[in-house]
Amino acid sequence: MNVFTKSKIANLNTVNKLVSQPMEGNDAVNSGKPSEKTINRYKKLAHGNWGVVIAEAISVSTTSLARINGLVLNEQNLDKFKELVDEFKKINNETVLIFQITHAGMKSGCFSEKVTLCPGQNDEYRYLSTEDVERIKQDFINSILLAEKAGADGIDLKMCHGYFGAEMLRPMNTRNDKWGGSLENRTRFLSETISEVKSKLNTPNFILGSRISMYEAIRGGCGTIAPDDITEDLTDQAKIIKLMSSLGMDYVNVSAGIPGVTSEITRPTNGSKNLYLNHFRYTKYTKEILGKINSEMKVIGSAYSVLKEKAIYFANENIEKKYTDFVGFGRQSFADPLYPKKLANNEKINFCSVCSGCSKLMVKQLNTGCIIYDNY
Ligand SMILES: Cc1cc2nc3c(=O)[nH]c(=O)nc-3n(C[C@H](O)[C@H](O)[C@H](O)COP(=O)(O)O)c2cc1C
Repeated sequence: MNVFTKSKIANLNTVNKLVSQPMEGNDAVNSGKPSEKTINRYKKLAHGNWGVVIAEAISVSTTSLARINGLVLNEQNLDKFKELVDEFKKINNETVLIFQITHAGMKSGCFSEKVTLCPGQNDEYRYLSTEDVERIKQDFINSILLAEKAGADGIDLKMCHGYFGAEMLRPMNTRNDKWGGSLENRTRFLSETISEVKSKLNTPNFILGSRISMYEAIRGGCGTIAPDDITEDLTDQAKIIKLMSSLGMDYVNVSAGIPGVTSEITRPTNGSKNLYLNHFRYTKYTKEILGKINSEMKVIGSAYSVLKEKAIYFANENIEKKYTDFVGFGRQSFADPLYPKKLANNEKINFCSVCSGCSKLMVKQLNTGCIIYDNY
């Protein structure tokens, strides 16, 4: 068994176990519409023969953007998203295409609205009321149903990397309304969103997954046990994963850290290479939790790019040992969108040099991509 064996997510077949992780392109036009540049990026990935492509963070509204040219999935932009899916599927109808749906929350840019769920943050952020959160939940539901209309095979509810969804899950979310305090309240957004979406979807096997940060490495962040704790304790994360399974979700995409705050934990670089081991540990732990409850939910791992040429050997090993079901590549998918196809055909691969060039472009609010190989 290896990355090239077929698999399934929610009864949809995948041609292999290689996942292109969401990577923001920051190249939308006219208030969040996919541009020709955006569509071309996904056409390149379609040629790559990935098992699954998770399209980048797509915001639920124009006021919840982390990137000045970020994508927004609303009624006005629906046709362009349909075009993106059509163009992708014309090239490759076998790769599963998932949209990642998000609200940037505290990570919204100054061109958007900086908001927070957690009490006690500084004045830069507007504190969201109980009703604001209810409205944001409806925005998520609306965008997810639009993803279905656009023809995507599923969605990834973004609850990682410090965005709104992650802030919701943190122990530091000590709100005293129905959205904070107890774990039940902190996961209410997830439960209610998924339950309502499930009752409204028309497509059988429409994939519902989520990306979470197992440990954010900040005080009171995800993967700690109390608002004033910083050490890793995965008790809550285990409960969240079990909850996702009981809600009938199809996969959990396991990540860690907060880009821009604890970046190396999310995406190890040459100087912090060994942090990839945390990601392996997290997927192995997630598989154990799901195994104990006989869950069918699939697990996707992150942060393989730093391993470059050796990534495929570790990926095969983790799959063989059942430490993960799928292996995800972020920066490698920018460096070489054709990675799986080239691997299968033994062709020369453009390996990600882990130079952080793509992240620097993103921080500068420029179109992102690989600064070394993007003339593909
Ligand atoms: C430029 C850039 C954009 C990213 N955009 C997203 C995103 O939209 N959604 C997300 O969940 N993660 C995003 N990430 C994180 C990646 O998906 C991935 O988790 C990270 O790069 C580590 O994996 P890797 O070592 O394979 O690159 C982004 C990372 C980078 C460098």
